[in-house]
Amino acid sequence: MAKLSIVTMPGDGIGKVVLDESLRVLDAVGFEAEYVHADIGWEFWINEGNALPQRTVDLLAEHKLGLFGAITSKPKPQAAAELKPELRDRGLVYFSPIVGLRQRFNLDVCIRPCRSFKGNPLNFIRRGAEEIEEPHVDAVIFRQNTEGMYAGVEWTDPSPEVLAALATHPKWKTFAEVPPADLAISTRIFTRRGCRRIVTAAFEYASKHGYPSVTVCEKPNVLRETSGMMEEVAREVHADFPGIDLWSTNIDAQMMWLTKNPENYGVIVAGNLFGDIVSDAFAGLVGGLGFAASGNIGEEVAVFEPTHGSAPKYAELEPSIVNPVAMVLTAAMLLDHIGEERRAGRVRDAVARVIETGDVRVYDMMKIPGGPGVVAQGAATTLEMTDAIIAAL
Ligand code: IPM
Ligand code: MG
Repeated sequence: MAKLSIVTMPGDGIGKVVLDESLRVLDAVGFEAEYVHADIGWEFWINEGNALPQRTVDLLAEHKLGLFGAITSKPKPQAAAELKPELRDRGLVYFSPIVGLRQRFNLDVCIRPCRSFKGNPLNFIRRGAEEIEEPHVDAVIFRQNTEGMYAGVEWTDPSPEVLAALATHPKWKTFAEVPPADLAISTRIFTRRGCRRIVTAAFEYASKHGYPSVTVCEKPNVLRETSGMMEEVAREVHADFPGIDLWSTNIDAQMMWLTKNPENYGVIVAGNLFGDIVSDAFAGLVGGLGFAASGNIGEEVAVFEPTHGSAPKYAELEPSIVNPVAMVLTAAMLLDHIGEERRAGRVRDAVARVIETGDVRVYDMMKIPGGPGVVAQGAATTLEMTDAIIAAL
């Protein structure tokens, strides 16, 4: 059988470091694939005016499976100012390449598991009646990844046609007198198909992995149309999964409850922006972005990425000190996706063992500020942390 091929997109900053580390772990667990490098990120924005070059899109269209490191994003004016001189004044606009990939390949199902590892000093704790408690967190967030407020349907200074359409809504009268140049509008668009895909993925996951409930985390009391549609679809899909409870929480209340009783939540499903928010919040309970992995899954293509950014301030540090665990867990999610669940489980067990033993800890797990001095303070380097995971395998 031909070897599986995987497009590797290290991107910027620490993405280049951690992606290689995850490949070392994949090798060590006996997984064989052909890795095809693809360009993405800030340097291609500066030099080509496009952070997601067409050749990268073509490679993903061909190979269908991607492993992504991290990218740097900067606000619009700053991004324009960093373009190489001959590309300036061409009206090029920076667009996040990972959001671009999600849309280009309709990677509409985003999965973000947030599970605490025993012995992680960064785990959430709370004051109980008698003692300090450390509840086991095991939440898996399903984020609709392409629609909602990320669809990009937005305007400043909307055209007369847009204004005319908005004026058909009775509530528009509040804004009718505002000069168009002073209006900024971002839309929140949900489709029944998008809702159905994400809710179905959530229920199927809950059913396969034995979670007792699926929680829709939206805001239907205010966002009646969009959140309302997600809830309605969830009730329909729920009919096919009678053994699983369907719960509904509002995003604001959910953010409060997860700091009180995070162990009560299992599979959570949300629209794009609320999913973005709630997945960072749960990640914070299990060690933060150094532990947060994710998969962006479409019908044909899937791209796996750690949820963290490119950490520019640590990118040039030699040796690297950043936590490779999120990227390693991301590679394990890729293994799950292609049916290599046994190897994926071995990788996660190895990570769990290293964390529980606690002999090798990167600086974030020591709760010290990052910087060149952390190794002298006893922190493991990125490579040493990966070596420990490989040894545990
Ligand atoms: C994430 C990130 C991205 C998002 C950014 C980098 C555009 O926060 O993957 O959660 O908002 O989706
Ligand atoms: Mg985010």
